[in-house]
This record gives sequence, C-alpha cells and structure tokens, in this order.
Amino acid sequence: MNVLVAIHERRSIQFFDPQREVDPHLLRELLETANLAPSSFNLQPWDVITLQDRENKKKLRACAFDQPKVEEAGAVLILVANPRGVEEHIDPVLDRMIELGYLKPEAREKTRGMPFGLYGQDPDSVSRKLFAVKNAALFAMNLMVAARGYGLETHPMDGFQEDKVKEAFGIPQDRLVPMLIAVGHLKPGTQLLPRGYRRPVEDFVHPERF
Ligand SMILES: Cc1cc2nc3c(=O)[nH]c(=O)nc-3n(C[C@H](O)[C@H](O)[C@H](O)COP(=O)(O)O)c2cc1C
Repeated sequence: MNVLVAIHERRSIQFFDPQREVDPHLLRELLETANLAPSSFNLQPWDVITLQDRENKKKLRACAFDQPKVEEAGAVLILVANPRGVEEHIDPVLDRMIELGYLKPEAREKTRGMPFGLYGQDPDSVSRKLFAVKNAALFAMNLMVAARGYGLETHPMDGFQEDKVKEAFGIPQDRLVPMLIAVGHLKPGTQLLPRGYRRPVEDFVHPERF
C-alpha cells in the first residue's frame, strides 16, 4: 500500500473483532517494520510487550479504565520507553558504524560520549525521559501507519494507570509507558465514524518565526 493511502486510512478504531486474532508472524513483521523508525543516535530506546493471551489482555483492561478495546483487539502492545537506552544500546550501534566504515575505530570513544553530552549522564533526568519518550513515539507512529499497510487497524491509548501496568507486567520502575496500542481487525458490521476535527494548517504553521 502507498504510504499516503496508509496515512489517510489510519484511524483509531473503537470496535475490534474479538473473534479475530492477529497472526503472530504478521505481528512480528509489523514490529520489524516499525523498528525502522528513526531514533536519536540510532539508539532505539523502546521495548514492546505483546499481549495476545485473553487473560493478559483482561488484566491490562483492568489497568486501562476498563476500555473494552484492550480486551477485544487481537493484540495489544505495551510500549515501553527506556531512559537508559543511551548506555544500554550505544555499543552495538557504534560497532555497526565501524563495520560499515562510517566510523573510524579511533573515533569510537569520542562518538560514544556524544549522546551522554546531549542527554546527560543521569538516566532519571527529564532530558533522558524526553529522549526516551520522543523516540518511542516515533516507533509508535511508524507502527500504526505500517499496520494499515498490512490491512490491520490500531488504537493508541493514554487512558491507563502507569503504575498498575508496570506492576502487572513486570516493567522496571525506571522505564516509562508512553502508550498502549491495540492492534487488530474491525468488527464486522461496524463502520468508522467520520474523521474528527483537524486544526487548519494556518493555525499551527508559523512561516519563518513563531
Ligand atoms: C497518545 C494517544 C493517546 C490516546 N489515548 C486514547 C485513549 O486512552 N482512549 C481512546 O479512546 N482514544 C485515545 N486516543 C485516540 C485519539 O482520541 C484519536 O487519535 C483522535 O481522536 C483522532 O482520531 P483518529 O486517530 O481516528 O484520526 C489516543 C491517541 C493518542 C495519539
């Protein structure tokens, strides 16, 4: 599917077909495609918990203000952002850069220091949290557009209690949960509601200066 068609067709659907699972191979391919998202210093500071088991989806629904789509969608993803993505992910990124000839081995240590210079040394800082969440959000958007390309529907959700989700699914305290994403198929017999309000371009675009 053409990417413009996928962007135009992507909607946050309310009614998923509870009878239809998401093929695990397709889900894996979707996650691989989403993982092509850009990230600062290519650090990819995200993890994803995939839920396809009915009982686990029920458990998540109880942490998400009882939103039915959490249980009804074939799969639900818990997106996890990692403020420690700098120290935890930098080395294989640099190794690959050297292997590809983009980086000279003698420049490795200097380059390794760059993301620490930009985002700081403290994984609990606001700067590190923003780093993790902004990159995870790009992964999420890539995933939702790609899902449409694979004939799937999605729904991102902020309506959940992060502390409860962390406790229920074993997520370490220093991670953040930017959103949940339901993935599945539209329930037969239901129709998409008309697209909601979008701000006119003149409202949010500021040529040359804010
Ligand atoms: C980060 C984020 C969190 C959201 N959280 C919820 C949610 O908890 N429950 C819900 O019904 N919709 C949620 N939405 C969906 C929005 O309401 C929806 O994207 C918006 O109304 C535009 O509709 P569209 O995605 O179909 O274009 C969320 C969307 C985003 C991006």
